[in-house]
Amino acid sequence: MLCYLNYKRVKKPLEVKDPWVEVGFGRGDFIVKLAKEHPEKTLIGFEISHLSVEKLLKRVKREGLKNVLCSRIDAYWGFYLLFRDGSVERVFMNYPDPWFKKRHHRRRLTTPERLYVFAKKLKTGGEIKIRSDEKAFLDFTLESAEQLGCFAYELERLSVSEPLTKYEQKWLSMGRELYQLTLKKVKEPPFVEHPQIKEVEQLFPVKVKKGPVEQLENRTEKLADKVYLKTFKLWRGKEGYLLEALLSEEGYLQKFLISIRDKGEEFVVDVSPFSEVLKTENLQRAVERVARLIEG
Ligand SMILES: C[S@@+](CC[C@H](N)C(=O)[O-])C[C@H]1O[C@@H](n2cnc3c(N)ncnc32)[C@H](O)[C@@H]1O
Repeated sequence: MLCYLNYKRVKKPLEVKDPWVEVGFGRGDFIVKLAKEHPEKTLIGFEISHLSVEKLLKRVKREGLKNVLCSRIDAYWGFYLLFRDGSVERVFMNYPDPWFKKRHHRRRLTTPERLYVFAKKLKTGGEIKIRSDEKAFLDFTLESAEQLGCFAYELERLSVSEPLTKYEQKWLSMGRELYQLTLKKVKEPPFVEHPQIKEVEQLFPVKVKKGPVEQLENRTEKLADKVYLKTFKLWRGKEGYLLEALLSEEGYLQKFLISIRDKGEEFVVDVSPFSEVLKTENLQRAVERVARLIEG
């Protein structure tokens, strides 16, 4: 089994029985420990840090572990895109919010909208286990959980054993108390509005009558509610142009190149084959918008 999970390519939802998922595995100590202790389980890790993913891949290879998968993706989107509802057995979040600050509340992993998606993907009886040294973060999480009304919970003081995660080492060396909050899903949550993106099977190129292209650089285009396309530099190549672009769909970001191929009377606008993308409805809209901008 390959450890790296390319969420843009794999067949979704994932066919993994009762996975255990770690959110933000950092140095990887915890996921590796779990994988060794539970060879019968498949462990899936989500991380936004490139470096952490690289380190875990090397470690899993070195230690010959066969039951670990990981992907570089924001955990919210990892859950949203990859799992069938009611399929995940356990979720682990260890010290997800260091240096807790009030103004960061919208980005927190345990806002009601994010917790809603985690809860939907959990099996009934499945658990989210959150370790933290920060009472204010745990209170915030409990408020979100109460809003959803689908969890039974337990909050306990934690005494940890080796190997400690990086943040466990840090907090213990500072003399801080550690806690574990367990949220056990007891029923389905009521619907909560949450960020969504829609995948499509295929993206289609768009043909346009040739027009000026210089104005395509450095623009911000609103494609739909909470969906923005930003463009940057335009390069001239042998077959036409390449335009650097960033699409933000409800906070899900994709950086890619748009190719504008010169076909005599026409340009053909498409996502460049050099860019590996998650094919979404809004990506198609982005290609169409660039074509319309060329038309003027
Ligand atoms: C404070 S560190 C804790 C790392 C590790 N769990 C430990 O105990 O040492 C938080 C980790 O979560 C990752 N992270 C933060 N937000 C994330 C998200 N939305 N999805 C996936 N990983 C995330 C960060 O890159 C970082 O590695």
